[in-house]
Amino acid sequence: MAIYDTTLGMQANLLFSQTAIHQAYGGVVPELASRYHLEKIQGVLNDALTKAQVTLDDIDVIGITNRPGLPGALLVGVCFGKTIAWAKNKRIIGIDHLEGHAFSANIDNNIPFPFLCITASGGHTSLYLVHDFGVYETIGSTLDDAAGEAFDKIAKLVNLGYPGGPVVEKLAASQEFVDFFKYPRTHGQTLDFSFSGLKTAVLYDLVKRGAYDMPTKTYLGNDDPDLKAKIASSLLVCIKDIFEQKLALALKKHPEARAISFVGGVSCNKYLRKALGEFSARRGMQFFVPAPQYCTDNAGMIAYVAHYKAQQGLFDDIDLDLVR
Ligand code: KG4
Ligand code: ZN
Repeated sequence: MAIYDTTLGMQANLLFSQTAIHQAYGGVVPELASRYHLEKIQGVLNDALTKAQVTLDDIDVIGITNRPGLPGALLVGVCFGKTIAWAKNKRIIGIDHLEGHAFSANIDNNIPFPFLCITASGGHTSLYLVHDFGVYETIGSTLDDAAGEAFDKIAKLVNLGYPGGPVVEKLAASQEFVDFFKYPRTHGQTLDFSFSGLKTAVLYDLVKRGAYDMPTKTYLGNDDPDLKAKIASSLLVCIKDIFEQKLALALKKHPEARAISFVGGVSCNKYLRKALGEFSARRGMQFFVPAPQYCTDNAGMIAYVAHYKAQQGLFDDIDLDLVR
């Protein structure tokens, strides 16, 4: 839940994290996600109002994520937002979760348009050419798994827990980001990504090293105590190379781009932030990332999009629904 003031900026950006709840299951359980949304949403709203030192009467517009995502969880937010709007006579705007990510680096930065945005999260990996607030073109997206999903699935393969990204980053740092295993990079002259082959490559490499039993789907390890850390390190370098290759191609195809932004849950990763920052600097491009609280899923980025859509007069009616 977030509160954005057009004059003063972000006044509250609160999150009830469900990570610990879903960790036990190795991934998000949709039914549990909806139940906790329902249980927590009113309390988090109260906390956000307190933090921002306002009341509901001070709020003009309610931005509500209505696409894409787990329908049960989205439905809780849509019903809650619409109920307040109806009871308190507020305007509402349905917001695309991915538009939230795409403009999350704009919250604290003045990014020149047009800019290239690489969004990497658990559900999506996309390249956008962003022309203006709310005006952006998808110039590439993943054909299968998302980058964050690759971290999560490969981490699961070797029993590193959920979510995979942060633990992979920590282990990779312990190996100084050396590319031990040289997993295949998906090249090609399109701006689309593909990460499912990477998981298969890691799996076959583990089998070859006698570290994984296919019939029982069990990670066995081998006599190298650093095997997991070396996998993590090689994986991170591989994903960095894939991002850089796609960005280089995007810059070639869209020389009008004036800056690069890197957003989404994966953009928390300090190694990738630094590497892509250096990549941009080598090309004389300005580089932007969101503050950490705006990288992984957050309401702040949704409130931010709602604020500029409200300024553009793009309101929705009270029959707002989920978009599939
Ligand atoms: O944007 P996000 O919070 O949720 C979705 O919209 O999917 O992204 C979550 C993803 C997860 O796959 C997680 O493993 C990844 O972001 N992630 C990271 C890091 N922190 C979170 N990936 C790499 N390095 C990190 N430090
Ligand atoms: Zn997200």
